[in-house]
Amino acid sequence: MKNICKIIKKTQLCKEVFDFEVEFSHRPLPGQFIHVLCGDGVFLRRPISICDYNEGILRFSFAVRGEGTKRLANHNEGDMLDILGPLGRGFDTGKSGEGTAVVVGGGIGIFPLYFLSKRIKTEAILGFRTKDAVIMEDDFKSVCSAVHIATDDGSYGFHGLVTDVLQGRLEKADVTSVYACGPMPMMKEIKRITEDMGIFCQLSLEQRMGCGIGACSVCVCKSKGEYKKVCQNGPVFNAREVDFDE
Ligand SMILES: Cc1cc2nc3c(=O)[nH]c(=O)nc-3n(C[C@H](O)[C@H](O)[C@H](O)COP(=O)(O)OP(=O)(O)OC[C@H]3O[C@@H](n4cnc5c(N)ncnc54)[C@H](O)[C@@H]3O)c2cc1C
Ligand code: FES
Repeated sequence: MKNICKIIKKTQLCKEVFDFEVEFSHRPLPGQFIHVLCGDGVFLRRPISICDYNEGILRFSFAVRGEGTKRLANHNEGDMLDILGPLGRGFDTGKSGEGTAVVVGGGIGIFPLYFLSKRIKTEAILGFRTKDAVIMEDDFKSVCSAVHIATDDGSYGFHGLVTDVLQGRLEKADVTSVYACGPMPMMKEIKRITEDMGIFCQLSLEQRMGCGIGACSVCVCKSKGEYKKVCQNGPVFNAREVDFDE
């Protein structure tokens, strides 16, 4: 679904991360994404997770990485954006009623987990490089029963990796589901930990994309020995189905 959407709010969350709220009439599910035309000279759309949706207002946040996100960040309130979506398959929240759900986000991977945490009761474990990169702590605190922050350099919260915090948290037996999004090494470790402990886990994968709608195969990943399209079969997959070593 193509939408021409008005930006109604633009905020800068930290040095390189921007947060946009746009008018959007299609109700999305947590874990789905949008595919955004970023501006002149950038032909391909860029995939961005849906961070929140409330009464016709969609929120997304993004880090400036290359030309596409740089152009996107140049937009201002009142500008119009060409957005495809909502796209992809979101989180399966069916297990969440049975016990505690934990969301684990690394860097820009935290965004889809906020929308999920507004829908189901969660605890959050969020990891950042350093104190200056910590964002959305208050947002998560407003919806989660507990929020644990970790930084790589120890400048804020726990000194170390989110996977260390998760391992400690899972040793208390009440956690029945884990939902994660972040860098590949983090996801790989979370798959290992949750499989070892027999805990239901879903991962939202971030692959480079072309079309975003299943037509080009740019985004394939290996799943149980088969190729799956992240834009169409995902971006959310059961951790057991993802083959990281291929
Ligand atoms: C389903 C999905 C949801 C996403 N959600 C968000 C989000 O909510 N917020 C956000 O900031 N980013 C998100 N991303 C990543 C975002 O799409 C990329 O950062 C963006 O496309 C980079 O475009 P660019 O033109 O600025 O940079 P480019 O010049 O295209 O690339 C700059 C750098 O980013 C790397 N990169 C590009 N695309 C990706 C990608 N898909 N995954 C990992 N690294 C990439 C490149 O290898 C390069 O090092 C998501 C990606 C996917 C697939
Ligand atoms: S991005 Fe084209 S098939 Fe997934």
